[in-house]
Amino acid sequence: MGVAKPEHRIHPEVSQFLAKPRKLLIGGQWVEAASGKTFPVFDPATGEVLTHVAEGDKEDIDRAVRAARRAFESGPWRRMTPSERGRLIWKLADLIEEHLEEFAELETLDTGKPITAARAADVPLAIDLFRYMAGWATKIEGNTIPLSVPYTPGAEYFAYTVREPVGVVGQIIPWNFPLLLAAWKLGPALATGCTSVLKPAEQTPLTALRLGELILEVGFPEGVVNIVPGYGETAGAALAAHPGVDKVAFTGSTEVGKLIVQAAAGNLKKVSLELGGKSPNVVFKDADLDVAIQGAANAIFFNTGQVCCAGSRLYVERAIFDRVVEGVAEHAKKLKVGPGLDPSTEMGPLVSEEQLNRVCGYLASGFAEGAKAVVGGNRWGDKGYFIEPTILVDTRPNMKIVQEEIFGPVVTAMSFEEMDELIPAANDTIYGLAAAVWTRDLSKAHRVAAQLRAGTVWINCYNIFDAALPFGGYKQSGWGREMGHDVLELYTEVKAVCARL
Ligand code: NAI
Ligand code: MG
Repeated sequence: MGVAKPEHRIHPEVSQFLAKPRKLLIGGQWVEAASGKTFPVFDPATGEVLTHVAEGDKEDIDRAVRAARRAFESGPWRRMTPSERGRLIWKLADLIEEHLEEFAELETLDTGKPITAARAADVPLAIDLFRYMAGWATKIEGNTIPLSVPYTPGAEYFAYTVREPVGVVGQIIPWNFPLLLAAWKLGPALATGCTSVLKPAEQTPLTALRLGELILEVGFPEGVVNIVPGYGETAGAALAAHPGVDKVAFTGSTEVGKLIVQAAAGNLKKVSLELGGKSPNVVFKDADLDVAIQGAANAIFFNTGQVCCAGSRLYVERAIFDRVVEGVAEHAKKLKVGPGLDPSTEMGPLVSEEQLNRVCGYLASGFAEGAKAVVGGNRWGDKGYFIEPTILVDTRPNMKIVQEEIFGPVVTAMSFEEMDELIPAANDTIYGLAAAVWTRDLSKAHRVAAQLRAGTVWINCYNIFDAALPFGGYKQSGWGREMGHDVLELYTEVKAVCARL
């Protein structure tokens, strides 16, 4: 392992951005936190401090919510045509694209992810999401509705629905895809005409703050987007509970998702949640095994396994179990682990020391209960938050490592013989975010897809995302769907208008 060589730190704009403490974006102004406090942001590859960021708390959230309320009620935002809104969103996408390299580098420094992934996936997906949502701004329509009111015989009515923005939205995001999830949240809020207070994760606030600078440059009216980094228990909790917020959208742990629901009860704000997962990845013996093995490895090792829909439970038909496990182990051994800024790195560190401790705790619990590592199972290197890609076998269905989300590059591999053994096992989880099936038998693929209780099912592929494809969870994986046209429902209220003629 080596630290990133100096030539990898290419962007003067990135060093400039990191050179001074960053502030909060409230009402179109960059301001200090009311408390004057800041918090450190770490480089997960080295554990060193990258920069400091103003630490938002209750008072700052309150100021931001007021700014968002003013922008929603009386600012120029409400008077803009949908086409004008769409053009601003499109312009934001163009500006991010102009700064693609800079965003990729900043995201890599902040999260530890490989620069190649940030450049090919995180930033382009964020750009595409904004472009997709820009198109929706002019297409948010209602219906005309024929009425037959039985108790007013002979009367005629003209009735229609309109979709109106839900209002001020609080948006709380995690650290695994910081820029992309900021886009998932802000894109539909802006397309529908809402105003937002966005709280990035305390581990990774940097790309959202850089995005805030572009949002001002594009010319969104002040207060339409407010960005307040801070800790979850303080700033996050204040936002979820704030009576001036009409809707809260959250991505993160199922545990905190439940706290959000409780906090939202005060004013019954609308809630949407994108939570954890423990997704089954099923390989049948008639699959194209080279493709399936590669796919199973990517499903769990991509982003160091810190993916809510990671393929963390691998179910393999018994006849090919050893071959598939060996194949995934070969991939794991070859995977180049290292600092994200090194262009040859394929798997970076975990995001934080806390996450490293959490994943190591799960490994220890698995070993104590009798699971074995075919490959991996240990911390990697002696600095930064690296961990080895790991495959565990000899598990039982009730083990913590089979039931709980590990959020690291750790997959449990299990075999099955019959379909009526597989389906209950695959669905034996409190989660229902994603699943995948690998087979050449088309009808089997769709039959299994129909029986898996999950918001996304991939067939002969994994981790395929598109701004047009809705994403979200069954069961305790969440409420609502993000992306696609489904997300517009989360950001609009339906008004029924009924006129007697
Ligand atoms: P978390 O759920 O605590 O954090 C996610 C976001 O929620 C952050 O912005 C955080 O500041 C905020 N938050 C935390 N407590 C809050 C509260 N009481 N009220 C309002 N906001 C609050 O997740 P954490 O602790 O970073 O990771 C723990 C586990 O959560 C991971 O190991 C993983 O299993 C899961 N997770 C799932 C994610 C997903 O994409 N669905 C993303 C991140 C974590
Ligand atoms: Mg937490």
